[in-house]
This record gives sequence, C-alpha cells and structure tokens, in this order.
Amino acid sequence: MGPMSSPDFSKGAAWQGGNFVPIGEASVPLTDWGFLRSDAAYDVVTVWDGAFFRLDAHLERFMRSCRKFRLDPGRSPQEIFEILSQCVKLAGLRSAYVEMLVTRGQPPWGSRDPRLAVNQFRAFAVPYVWIANEEQRQRGLHVKVSKVQRIPPASVDPTAKNYHWNDMTMGLFEALDAGADTVLLSDAAGNVVEGPGFNVFALRGGRLVTPLEGVLEGITRRTVVEIAGTFGVPVDVRALPADELRSADEVFLSSSGGGVLPVTRVDGKTVGNGEPGAVTRRLLQTYWDWHYEPRYSVPVRY
Ligand SMILES: Cc1ncc(COP(=O)(O)O)c(C=O)c1O
Repeated sequence: MGPMSSPDFSKGAAWQGGNFVPIGEASVPLTDWGFLRSDAAYDVVTVWDGAFFRLDAHLERFMRSCRKFRLDPGRSPQEIFEILSQCVKLAGLRSAYVEMLVTRGQPPWGSRDPRLAVNQFRAFAVPYVWIANEEQRQRGLHVKVSKVQRIPPASVDPTAKNYHWNDMTMGLFEALDAGADTVLLSDAAGNVVEGPGFNVFALRGGRLVTPLEGVLEGITRRTVVEIAGTFGVPVDVRALPADELRSADEVFLSSSGGGVLPVTRVDGKTVGNGEPGAVTRRLLQTYWDWHYEPRYSVPVRY
C-alpha cells in the first residue's frame, strides 16, 4: 500500500494517541504497565443493527472501573461515545464489538510510583464477537466447573472490568482438554462465580439464581434480571453452590458476546432434558427484541 492510499479499516478501526488507525496497526508500548502488569480497565459495548445497546450503562460502568483502579480516561462519556461511534463508522460495521480501555502508561524512568504515570485511553471496533459459535448456541454449551479458583475479590476487584485473566485462561485449557466448550470458575467456598466473559444463571423450581459476589456486574445479567421481572420469574442474587448448578432445571450464561447462551451440560451431566430450556429460550428471544427498544438503543452516527 503506497503512502497516498487511504487506510484499510475493513477489519476494524482503533483510536489511539488522537488518531484513528486500522485495527492491525493499533498497539500498546512494551513498557506500558497495561501490558507489563495487566494494569488497565476496560469495557465492551455492542452495536447491533446500527445501534449501540445500553451504551449509558457501559459508559457508566467503564468510568466506575477506572475510578476503582485510579485510572483516568481523560475524557467525558460523551467524548468517548463520539470516538466509539467513529470507530464503528470507519470500520463500516452494522454489528460490532466495541471496546474502550485505559492503561496505566508508565511512570518516569527509575520511578515505580503509579501516581506519576500518564494513563492512556484507547478504543476499537471490530465485527461482533460471539462467545459461542452457531452450533454451540443451538445445542447449548457444555460447561466444566474448574478446579481453578477465581481471583478473590479482596485481591482484584471483579466489579472493575479488568485483564487479570490467567485464572480464566488456565480454566479454559482444563475445560477444553476435558472436551467441554467453556469453563466456570468457583470461589474458595465452592460457589460458582463467572467464566471468561460471562455471568451464569441457574433456574431451580421456577426461580432464577445468579451469583452475588466475586463477579463483574454484567450489563447482560442486569438485562436478564429486568426481563425476568417482566415475566414474573423471581431472581435470587446470592451465592450459587456448584452442586445447585449441577442439579438445576435450566442453566445459561449471559454476556455482551452473544446475550443469553443456553447451557445443556455441566461437568458432563445433562441439564434438564438436554435441550435449551423454555425459560432460557424466552429470555434469549426477549434479549434480542429489546435491542429495538428506543430507551436502550443509541444509533451509530454513520
Ligand atoms: C469476567 C466477566 N464476567 C462477566 C461478563 C459479562 O458482562 P456483560 O454482560 O456486561 O458483557 C464479562 C464481560 O463480557 C466478563 O469479562
């Protein structure tokens, strides 16, 4: 590509250092603590059929994550929206995975004082990312409850969306090696908490249960709780012992990466009749219907 040709944003667009660049050219300096120490906060909002879904909730959570980690994005939610929208527009995407992030940057050479680092904001838009492929979504996911414990909340605050994922990744290896599709991590007491990019729900005796502590407060989780309310299905937000999950009538995951994702096997054992459950399917359908609710959608400025 010659110097006069225009950049190719077809695989995605990123914003960094005041410029929009093709996703393949976006990078973080080797010495940024975001890379060397996973010292960063982020959020992911999706675009579906030309509109952001629950953008305000994602921007709010992002600003909160930044405050918890003493990171400064250096711009307002409105300014961030404009950057995100431009990334989506440049990439020409109608449905997108849109990420905003702040890394610590680096303190001056010789200093190890994080207060002296200049934080760095970046953003990017790429095609919509599904946590489960089409076949897995149809038949329901096979999940393994890992021996790996999720990092305790007293060590790294899971309510601030972060890149401390070694537990998730090692759990994924374990689950995939065992023939499952994905993994759920537990806490020290043997309650399941969450997995790589999703929250979890179990339906037992007509009531939904989703873990209270040790989890990111997912926006999809919040949406599911709201939808369940309109169905008159009660939701208990409390500890979820792994054994309760294994004996649930229905199980599903919730994530911006695919919405409501049915689970039909836990640790090799069939959930319910082995097919995505009726309540799960209703929630899934309404989750997608709500993408057309004006109160939850903000059109991309193409
Ligand atoms: C660890 C973790 N838990 C839960 C979720 C689900 O959150 P949301 O529904 O906001 O995408 C995510 C992000 O996708 C995550 O990374």
